[in-house]
Amino acid sequence: MIEVETLSKNYGSFAAVRGLSFVVRPGEVLGLVGPNGAGKTSTLRCLAGIIPASGGTVRIAGHDVAANPVAAKRALAFFSDEPRLFEYLTVRQHLNFVARLYGIANYEALAGPLLEELEIADKADELPGALSRGMKQKLAIACGLLHSPQVMFFDEPLTGLDPLGIRRMKDSILKRAGAGAAIVLSSHLLHLLEEVCSHVLILKKGEMIAAGTLAEVEARFSNGEVGVGLEEIFIRATGGSEN
Ligand SMILES: Nc1ncnc2c1ncn2[C@@H]1O[C@H](COP(=O)(O)OP(=O)(O)OP(=O)(O)O)[C@@H](O)[C@H]1O
Ligand SMILES: [Mg+2]
Repeated sequence: MIEVETLSKNYGSFAAVRGLSFVVRPGEVLGLVGPNGAGKTSTLRCLAGIIPASGGTVRIAGHDVAANPVAAKRALAFFSDEPRLFEYLTVRQHLNFVARLYGIANYEALAGPLLEELEIADKADELPGALSRGMKQKLAIACGLLHSPQVMFFDEPLTGLDPLGIRRMKDSILKRAGAGAAIVLSSHLLHLLEEVCSHVLILKKGEMIAAGTLAEVEARFSNGEVGVGLEEIFIRATGGSEN
């Protein structure tokens, strides 16, 4: 469960995120959408405790991210759009390292199936330098999933993946939600978001301009039309390219 109350983030005097409040329950997948610079990455980083919020509270599985960061971080995983890997650790050594950090005893039993699921098992003994961009992304995801987080944040998880990789990633996200994870993901690939998200939150200049189930948000901007789709809703809600 993710509980957010009046979250704000300022960079100096610039307000990047303003007063966001929402809840993501177990099994829900919330799509965070908005134009470039709307505040999606800033929001996700605050939710995951990677950068401090300027105001408001975030609770992850009941733990306040600011007051109790270790407990909150044990319950979550954050997947960046720019994965950071260790140059001198192989794929397998990455997983081993993460397993030690989180004190995961049965890591051998978990790591193999994860590498298979993400289709990088044949690269288990390679260093990151020998992986493609999409494979690096998959390795970062394998590392994040190893401790079976209840809460997951994905910043642009589908960018850079091939069509089959996108389908597998969608299946992985839906599988974790089905198992009770609460998930937030940002993406500009709106037709793909429609297939994985139960809910959407539209951000514009750091402010929430619509939130709810896909059907609720669609109803609000559809003017009575049927099957408008998230892309058209996005354009109507955010006023085209102007943000
Ligand atoms: N470290 C920073 N210092 C100053 N301003 C920042 C910083 N990071 C982000 N910003 C500003 O905050 C705003 C929101 O940026 P953010 O990266 O959260 O947007 P985004 O919605 O993720 O955009 P995109 O779709 O391009 O990824 C932008 O105006 C950006 O310039
Ligand atoms: Mg971003």
